[in-house]
Amino acid sequence: MDAKKYFNKTAEAWVDDAYNNKKYSIGHQRKEIIGKIFSNSPKMRIADLGCGAGYVALELAKKHEVVGIDQNKKMIEMAEHYKNLAPLQVQKRVSFVCKPLQELEGNFDAVIVIGVLYYLKRDEILFNLAKKLLNSKGTLVVSARNRLFNMVSITERTLKEIKSGNASRLVKEIMELYKGKVKSLKLEAKIYPRVKKTSDMGLRQHTPNELKKIAKRHGFRLINYYGVHPHLIAPPVFETEGLTEFECLSISLAWSSQFIGEFKI
Ligand SMILES: C[S@@+](CC[C@H](N)C(=O)[O-])C[C@H]1O[C@@H](n2cnc3c(N)ncnc32)[C@H](O)[C@@H]1O
Repeated sequence: MDAKKYFNKTAEAWVDDAYNNKKYSIGHQRKEIIGKIFSNSPKMRIADLGCGAGYVALELAKKHEVVGIDQNKKMIEMAEHYKNLAPLQVQKRVSFVCKPLQELEGNFDAVIVIGVLYYLKRDEILFNLAKKLLNSKGTLVVSARNRLFNMVSITERTLKEIKSGNASRLVKEIMELYKGKVKSLKLEAKIYPRVKKTSDMGLRQHTPNELKKIAKRHGFRLINYYGVHPHLIAPPVFETEGLTEFECLSISLAWSSQFIGEFKI
């Protein structure tokens, strides 16, 4: 999928869907996990690659210095709008640039790349850029679409993995995740009608092991994985905020349509 064309058509709708329409949404959950990752770190200089409307950058700018870059004009206009609504101290710590992320220059303590990897043609584009931008002890935080969830969501994607002969490899990776402990949870779930959504079928996906391997090849070691926005079956059929408790458990890496990895050089 061509990210430029896609977001030229959908920037505002995407932001509404990810952040404004409901509380348990992919955008909110990703923002909360990023907040947790950086909550105890000292003041840092952070690059937010593909920052969109700046929700995550503005959250981080409550403490850190942040540069957000995005090639989409509407996204940057929204980011500037939200920046103007933020407290003055936050405004001073954040800046937004409208350019392809490959054109960012500078030296950063952390690079975050949220909801972007699957629009890049190859993983190397991201890992090489992160290496160029990060200092020697830098942190890279990247989200990916979770290929393991294909085997749990029971959708067209599951059939595709079975037909392509990859199903047993994915099931084995999921079985490893069941070795983590699962707390008992009191769930108040909402059941939604199933929405047929095939527009993102072509987007690249990774399993956690696949991403860990490619990161290692580029000199990054895994610190932690978080499942984002866990579901018991494919969204939006069964959704509950109660499942956020799973985010820090290994099994969430089977039950989440996306995951976030924290890596260090
Ligand atoms: C799914 S949105 C995520 C936005 C933001 N990171 C968030 O989590 O709210 C992906 C964003 O990446 C941007 N993007 C994708 N490829 C890009 C590229 N090569 N250079 C700059 N921005 C890019 C898109 O314009 C879009 O705003």
